[in-house]
Amino acid sequence: MEPTPDVVRHFHPVLPASALGRKPVRVELAGRAYALFRDAAGRPAALLDACPHRFAPLSRGRVTKDGRLECPYHGWRFDSRGNGVNPSQPDLRHCDTRGFQVVEHLGYLWLAQQDTPLSALPQLQSEDYVFGGSFSTLFRAPLHVSLDNFSEDEHTPFVHTRLGWDGPHTDAVEFEAHNFDDRTEVHYRAPQRPAPIIRLLGVAPGDTFHNDWVTRFDPVRSVYTIRWVTAAGRPRPFVTQAHIFFVPETATTTRLHVFSFLRTDVRAMRPLLPLAAKAALGLTWWEVRDDARFIPMVADTPYSHKGMRLDRYDKPLVHQRRLMERIYYGVQPEAAPLSLAREASGA
Ligand code: FES
Ligand SMILES: [Fe+2]
Repeated sequence: MEPTPDVVRHFHPVLPASALGRKPVRVELAGRAYALFRDAAGRPAALLDACPHRFAPLSRGRVTKDGRLECPYHGWRFDSRGNGVNPSQPDLRHCDTRGFQVVEHLGYLWLAQQDTPLSALPQLQSEDYVFGGSFSTLFRAPLHVSLDNFSEDEHTPFVHTRLGWDGPHTDAVEFEAHNFDDRTEVHYRAPQRPAPIIRLLGVAPGDTFHNDWVTRFDPVRSVYTIRWVTAAGRPRPFVTQAHIFFVPETATTTRLHVFSFLRTDVRAMRPLLPLAAKAALGLTWWEVRDDARFIPMVADTPYSHKGMRLDRYDKPLVHQRRLMERIYYGVQPEAAPLSLAREASGA
Protein backbone atom coordinates (compact mmCIF):
# COMPACT_ATOMS: atom_id res chain seq x y z
CA MET A 1 0.00 0.00 0.00
CA GLU A 2 1.51 3.31 -1.05
CA PRO A 3 1.09 6.54 0.92
CA THR A 4 -1.79 8.60 -0.43
CA PRO A 5 -1.76 12.41 -0.42
CA ASP A 6 -4.80 12.64 1.86
CA VAL A 7 -2.65 11.63 4.84
CA VAL A 8 -2.20 15.42 5.00
CA ARG A 9 -5.34 15.43 7.17
CA HIS A 10 -2.85 14.56 9.96
CA PHE A 11 -0.30 17.13 11.13
CA HIS A 12 3.19 16.06 9.98
CA PRO A 13 6.49 17.74 10.84
CA VAL A 14 8.01 18.64 7.46
CA LEU A 15 10.86 21.13 7.96
CA PRO A 16 12.87 22.81 10.73
CA ALA A 17 11.36 26.29 11.11
CA SER A 18 14.81 27.86 10.77
CA ALA A 19 15.12 26.39 7.24
CA LEU A 20 12.30 28.62 5.97
CA GLY A 21 13.41 32.21 5.46
CA ARG A 22 12.43 34.64 2.71
CA LYS A 23 12.77 32.05 -0.04
CA PRO A 24 10.06 29.42 -0.56
CA VAL A 25 10.98 25.80 0.13
CA ARG A 26 9.59 22.64 -1.47
CA VAL A 27 8.68 19.73 0.80
CA GLU A 28 7.12 16.40 -0.13
CA LEU A 29 4.52 14.40 1.71
CA ALA A 30 3.06 11.14 0.42
CA GLY A 31 3.97 11.77 -3.18
CA ARG A 32 2.71 15.33 -3.32
CA ALA A 33 4.85 18.49 -3.26
CA TYR A 34 4.08 21.62 -1.25
CA ALA A 35 5.58 25.11 -1.53
CA LEU A 36 6.23 26.53 1.94
CA PHE A 37 6.72 30.27 2.33
CA ARG A 38 6.33 33.06 4.88
CA ASP A 39 3.77 35.82 4.35
CA ALA A 40 4.41 39.53 4.99
CA ALA A 41 3.96 39.01 8.73
CA GLY A 42 6.43 36.10 8.74
CA ARG A 43 3.69 33.51 9.26
CA PRO A 44 4.43 30.19 7.54
CA ALA A 45 2.04 29.03 4.81
CA ALA A 46 1.84 26.21 2.26
CA LEU A 47 0.35 25.86 -1.22
CA LEU A 48 0.37 22.95 -3.63
CA ASP A 49 3.69 23.17 -5.43
CA ALA A 50 2.06 23.15 -8.85
CA CYS A 51 0.74 26.46 -10.16
CA PRO A 52 -2.89 26.10 -11.28
CA HIS A 53 -1.98 27.78 -14.60
CA ARG A 54 0.47 25.32 -16.16
CA PHE A 55 1.81 23.52 -13.09
CA ALA A 56 5.15 25.31 -12.70
CA PRO A 57 6.64 24.77 -9.21
CA LEU A 58 5.66 27.75 -7.04
CA SER A 59 8.54 26.86 -4.69
CA ARG A 60 10.89 28.14 -7.42
CA GLY A 61 9.16 31.51 -7.40
CA ARG A 62 9.56 34.43 -4.98
CA VAL A 63 7.61 36.09 -2.21
CA THR A 64 6.37 39.59 -3.10
CA LYS A 65 6.61 42.58 -0.74
CA ASP A 66 2.98 42.11 0.26
CA GLY A 67 3.67 38.48 1.22
CA ARG A 68 2.23 36.65 -1.77
CA LEU A 69 3.92 33.78 -3.57
CA GLU A 70 4.64 34.62 -7.21
CA CYS A 71 4.91 31.87 -9.81
CA PRO A 72 8.30 31.94 -11.60
CA TYR A 73 6.71 31.22 -15.02
CA HIS A 74 4.01 33.86 -15.76
CA GLY A 75 3.87 35.70 -12.45
CA TRP A 76 0.49 34.62 -11.10
CA ARG A 77 0.36 35.51 -7.38
CA PHE A 78 -1.16 33.66 -4.46
CA ASP A 79 -1.88 34.63 -0.87
CA SER A 80 -1.39 32.21 2.01
CA ARG A 81 -4.94 30.80 1.56
CA GLY A 82 -4.28 30.13 -2.12
CA ASN A 83 -6.34 33.00 -3.56
CA GLY A 84 -4.70 33.76 -6.91
CA VAL A 85 -4.59 36.56 -9.46
CA ASN A 86 -3.16 36.67 -12.96
CA PRO A 87 -1.40 40.05 -13.47
CA SER A 88 -1.61 39.70 -17.28
CA GLN A 89 -5.38 39.12 -17.24
CA PRO A 90 -6.70 40.52 -13.91
CA ASP A 91 -10.33 39.70 -14.68
CA LEU A 92 -9.59 35.99 -15.17
CA ARG A 93 -11.56 34.04 -12.58
CA HIS A 94 -10.79 30.73 -10.84
CA CYS A 95 -7.06 31.35 -10.52
CA ASP A 96 -6.94 29.93 -7.00
CA THR A 97 -4.87 27.06 -5.71
CA ARG A 98 -5.16 24.99 -2.57
CA GLY A 99 -3.71 26.34 0.68
CA PHE A 100 -2.74 24.28 3.72
CA GLN A 101 -2.14 25.00 7.40
CA VAL A 102 1.39 25.36 8.69
CA VAL A 103 1.97 25.55 12.43
CA GLU A 104 5.28 26.26 14.13
CA HIS A 105 5.79 23.92 17.08
CA LEU A 106 9.00 22.81 18.86
CA GLY A 107 11.16 24.45 16.22
CA TYR A 108 9.47 22.61 13.33
CA LEU A 109 6.88 23.45 10.71
CA TRP A 110 3.88 21.10 10.85
CA LEU A 111 1.68 20.73 7.79
CA ALA A 112 -1.99 19.73 7.61
CA GLN A 113 -5.01 20.49 5.46
CA GLN A 114 -7.06 23.56 6.39
CA ASP A 115 -9.86 21.86 8.28
CA THR A 116 -7.69 19.72 10.57
CA PRO A 117 -8.27 21.06 14.10
CA LEU A 118 -5.27 22.40 16.02
CA SER A 119 -6.12 19.91 18.76
CA ALA A 120 -4.85 17.19 16.36
CA LEU A 121 -1.31 18.58 16.61
CA PRO A 122 0.74 15.90 18.43
CA GLN A 123 1.76 17.13 21.87
CA LEU A 124 5.29 16.03 22.67
CA GLN A 125 6.38 17.84 25.75
CA SER A 126 5.54 16.50 29.15
CA GLU A 127 6.36 18.57 32.20
CA ASP A 128 9.34 16.80 33.69
CA TYR A 129 11.26 16.35 30.42
CA VAL A 130 13.84 18.80 29.07
CA PHE A 131 13.95 19.25 25.29
CA GLY A 132 17.41 18.30 24.01
CA GLY A 133 16.89 19.14 20.34
CA SER A 134 15.75 17.62 17.07
CA PHE A 135 17.09 16.36 13.76
CA SER A 136 15.82 14.88 10.50
CA THR A 137 17.22 11.90 8.62
CA LEU A 138 16.28 10.62 5.18
CA PHE A 139 15.57 6.88 4.92
CA ARG A 140 15.91 5.47 1.42
CA ALA A 141 13.04 3.04 1.94
CA PRO A 142 9.24 3.16 1.88
CA LEU A 143 7.25 3.97 5.02
CA HIS A 144 6.37 0.35 5.82
CA VAL A 145 10.03 -0.74 5.72
CA SER A 146 11.16 2.21 7.85
CA LEU A 147 8.41 1.65 10.41
CA ASP A 148 9.01 -2.12 10.63
CA ASN A 149 12.68 -1.44 11.30
CA PHE A 150 11.79 0.78 14.26
CA SER A 151 9.22 -1.70 15.56
CA GLU A 152 11.66 -4.39 16.69
CA ASP A 153 14.97 -4.36 18.56
CA GLU A 154 16.06 -7.80 17.38
CA HIS A 155 18.44 -6.05 14.95
CA THR A 156 20.17 -4.12 17.78
CA PRO A 157 23.38 -6.23 18.10
CA PHE A 158 23.84 -6.39 14.33
CA VAL A 159 22.92 -2.93 13.01
CA HIS A 160 23.87 -0.83 16.07
CA THR A 161 27.04 -0.40 18.08
CA ARG A 162 26.12 1.65 21.17
CA LEU A 163 22.61 1.42 22.54
CA GLY A 164 21.32 -1.88 23.93
CA TRP A 165 22.90 -5.32 23.92
CA ASP A 166 25.61 -6.95 21.82
CA GLY A 167 25.93 -10.26 19.95
CA PRO A 168 26.88 -12.49 22.92
CA HIS A 169 23.69 -11.41 24.73
CA THR A 170 21.06 -12.10 22.06
CA ASP A 171 19.59 -14.82 24.29
CA ALA A 172 19.41 -12.58 27.38
CA VAL A 173 16.62 -10.36 26.07
CA GLU A 174 13.26 -10.04 27.78
CA PHE A 175 10.47 -8.92 25.52
CA GLU A 176 6.80 -8.08 25.78
CA ALA A 177 4.42 -6.57 23.22
CA HIS A 178 0.78 -5.54 23.46
CA ASN A 179 -1.53 -4.66 20.61
CA PHE A 180 -4.33 -2.14 21.17
CA ASP A 181 -7.04 -0.59 19.03
CA ASP A 182 -5.12 2.65 18.49
CA ARG A 183 -1.50 1.75 19.26
CA THR A 184 1.10 -0.89 20.01
CA GLU A 185 3.25 -1.02 23.13
CA VAL A 186 6.59 -2.79 23.30
CA HIS A 187 9.01 -3.48 26.16
CA TYR A 188 12.61 -4.69 25.87
CA ARG A 189 15.04 -5.42 28.69
CA ALA A 190 18.62 -6.58 28.11
CA PRO A 191 22.23 -6.15 29.29
CA GLN A 192 23.64 -2.81 28.09
CA ARG A 193 26.86 -3.24 26.09
CA PRO A 194 29.86 -1.00 26.89
CA ALA A 195 29.82 2.26 24.90
CA PRO A 196 31.65 5.50 25.81
CA ILE A 197 28.77 7.87 24.90
CA ILE A 198 26.46 6.05 27.34
CA ARG A 199 28.86 6.85 30.19
CA LEU A 200 27.84 10.50 29.72
CA LEU A 201 24.37 9.50 30.87
CA GLY A 202 25.72 7.91 34.05
CA VAL A 203 25.43 4.37 32.74
CA ALA A 204 28.10 1.82 33.78
CA PRO A 205 29.08 -1.69 32.66
CA GLY A 206 26.73 -4.30 34.07
CA ASP A 207 23.65 -2.04 33.79
CA THR A 208 20.40 -3.26 32.30
CA PHE A 209 18.92 -1.42 29.34
CA HIS A 210 15.15 -0.85 29.26
CA ASN A 211 13.40 0.37 26.13
CA ASP A 212 9.63 0.95 26.30
CA TRP A 213 7.83 2.34 23.31
CA VAL A 214 4.42 3.22 21.97
CA THR A 215 3.52 3.56 18.28
CA ARG A 216 0.53 5.58 17.07
CA PHE A 217 -0.82 6.37 13.63
CA ASP A 218 -2.20 9.91 13.62
CA PRO A 219 0.42 10.44 12.03
CA VAL A 220 2.81 7.48 12.19
CA ARG A 221 5.06 8.03 15.19
CA SER A 222 6.76 6.19 18.04
CA VAL A 223 7.84 7.38 21.47
CA TYR A 224 10.82 5.47 22.88
CA THR A 225 11.51 5.80 26.60
CA ILE A 226 14.95 4.45 27.49
CA ARG A 227 16.36 4.00 30.98
CA TRP A 228 19.02 1.93 32.73
CA VAL A 229 19.07 0.03 36.01
CA THR A 230 22.19 -0.98 37.98
CA ALA A 231 23.09 -4.59 38.76
CA ALA A 232 21.75 -3.90 42.28
CA GLY A 233 18.37 -2.88 40.80
CA ARG A 234 18.72 0.88 41.33
CA PRO A 235 17.54 3.19 38.54
CA ARG A 236 20.18 5.37 36.89
CA PRO A 237 19.41 9.09 37.11
CA PHE A 238 18.53 9.91 33.49
CA VAL A 239 15.60 8.74 31.39
CA THR A 240 15.66 9.56 27.66
CA GLN A 241 12.64 9.92 25.45
CA ALA A 242 12.77 10.13 21.66
CA HIS A 243 9.68 11.00 19.62
CA ILE A 244 10.17 9.78 16.06
CA PHE A 245 7.81 10.81 13.26
CA PHE A 246 7.85 8.64 10.12
CA VAL A 247 6.96 10.95 7.24
CA PRO A 248 6.59 9.30 3.83
CA GLU A 249 7.91 11.67 1.19
CA THR A 250 7.70 9.46 -1.88
CA ALA A 251 6.82 5.80 -2.45
CA THR A 252 10.49 4.94 -1.86
CA THR A 253 11.68 7.47 0.73
CA THR A 254 10.72 8.29 4.31
CA ARG A 255 12.01 11.20 6.38
CA LEU A 256 12.36 10.66 10.09
CA HIS A 257 11.95 13.74 12.26
CA VAL A 258 13.26 13.10 15.75
CA PHE A 259 12.61 15.11 18.93
CA SER A 260 14.78 14.16 21.89
CA PHE A 261 13.97 14.72 25.58
CA LEU A 262 15.56 13.85 28.90
CA ARG A 263 14.42 13.82 32.50
CA THR A 264 15.79 13.00 35.93
CA ASP A 265 14.11 12.31 39.26
CA VAL A 266 17.36 13.02 41.11
CA ARG A 267 17.37 16.63 42.26
CA ALA A 268 21.18 16.82 42.45
CA MET A 269 21.39 15.87 38.77
CA ARG A 270 19.09 18.64 37.51
CA PRO A 271 21.88 21.15 36.78
CA LEU A 272 23.40 18.51 34.47
CA LEU A 273 20.16 18.08 32.49
CA PRO A 274 20.92 20.49 29.60
CA LEU A 275 24.31 18.89 28.95
CA ALA A 276 23.05 15.34 29.40
CA ALA A 277 20.10 16.15 27.09
CA LYS A 278 22.64 16.99 24.36
CA ALA A 279 24.41 13.66 24.97
CA ALA A 280 21.05 11.87 24.66
CA LEU A 281 20.33 13.74 21.42
CA GLY A 282 23.77 12.72 20.08
CA LEU A 283 23.19 9.11 21.06
CA THR A 284 19.81 9.06 19.31
CA TRP A 285 21.36 10.66 16.23
CA TRP A 286 24.01 7.88 16.01
CA GLU A 287 21.42 5.15 16.42
CA VAL A 288 19.10 6.58 13.75
CA ARG A 289 22.08 7.03 11.43
CA ASP A 290 22.96 3.33 11.85
CA ASP A 291 19.42 2.43 10.79
CA ALA A 292 19.49 4.88 7.85
CA ARG A 293 22.74 3.34 6.59
CA PHE A 294 21.36 -0.15 6.77
CA ILE A 295 17.85 0.44 5.41
CA PRO A 296 18.63 0.60 1.63
CA MET A 297 19.56 -3.08 1.90
CA VAL A 298 15.93 -3.99 2.72
CA ALA A 299 14.21 -1.14 0.83
CA ASP A 300 12.54 -3.53 -1.63
CA THR A 301 10.85 -5.61 1.08
CA PRO A 302 7.20 -6.07 0.04
CA TYR A 303 4.35 -4.39 1.91
CA SER A 304 2.71 -7.69 2.81
CA HIS A 305 4.29 -9.88 5.48
CA LYS A 306 2.91 -12.92 3.70
CA GLY A 307 5.54 -15.65 3.29
CA MET A 308 7.90 -14.17 5.90
CA ARG A 309 8.95 -16.39 8.82
CA LEU A 310 8.16 -13.82 11.48
CA ASP A 311 9.37 -14.40 15.05
CA ARG A 312 8.07 -13.22 18.41
CA TYR A 313 9.82 -9.85 18.18
CA ASP A 314 7.76 -9.13 15.06
CA LYS A 315 4.47 -9.28 16.96
CA PRO A 316 3.71 -5.54 16.59
CA LEU A 317 4.44 -5.46 12.86
CA VAL A 318 1.36 -7.26 11.55
CA HIS A 319 -1.06 -5.42 13.84
CA GLN A 320 0.55 -2.10 12.89
CA ARG A 321 -0.24 -2.66 9.21
CA ARG A 322 -3.94 -2.76 10.12
CA LEU A 323 -3.73 0.29 12.36
CA MET A 324 -1.82 2.15 9.65
CA GLU A 325 -4.50 1.33 7.10
CA ARG A 326 -7.43 2.28 9.32
CA ILE A 327 -6.04 5.28 11.22
CA TYR A 328 -3.32 6.72 8.99
CA TYR A 329 -4.70 6.00 5.52
CA GLY A 330 -8.33 6.14 6.64
CA VAL A 331 -9.30 2.91 4.88
CA GLN A 332 -12.67 1.77 6.26
CA PRO A 333 -12.75 -1.95 7.07
CA GLU A 334 -15.91 -2.42 4.94
CA ALA A 335 -14.13 -0.85 1.96
CA ALA A 336 -11.15 -3.15 2.45
CA PRO A 337 -10.87 -6.63 0.95
CA LEU A 338 -12.97 -9.18 2.83
CA SER A 339 -9.98 -10.83 4.54
CA LEU A 340 -8.77 -7.47 5.88
CA ALA A 341 -12.26 -6.50 7.08
CA ARG A 342 -12.57 -9.82 8.91
CA GLU A 343 -9.23 -9.35 10.66
CA ALA A 344 -10.01 -5.77 11.65
CA SER A 345 -13.33 -6.79 13.23
CA GLY A 346 -11.61 -9.58 15.12
CA ALA A 347 -13.84 -12.23 13.51
S1 FES B 1 2.55 28.31 -14.68
FE1 FES B 1 2.38 29.63 -13.03
S2 FES B 1 1.84 31.51 -13.89
FE2 FES B 1 1.97 30.18 -15.56
FE1 LIG C 1 17.60 0.35 14.81
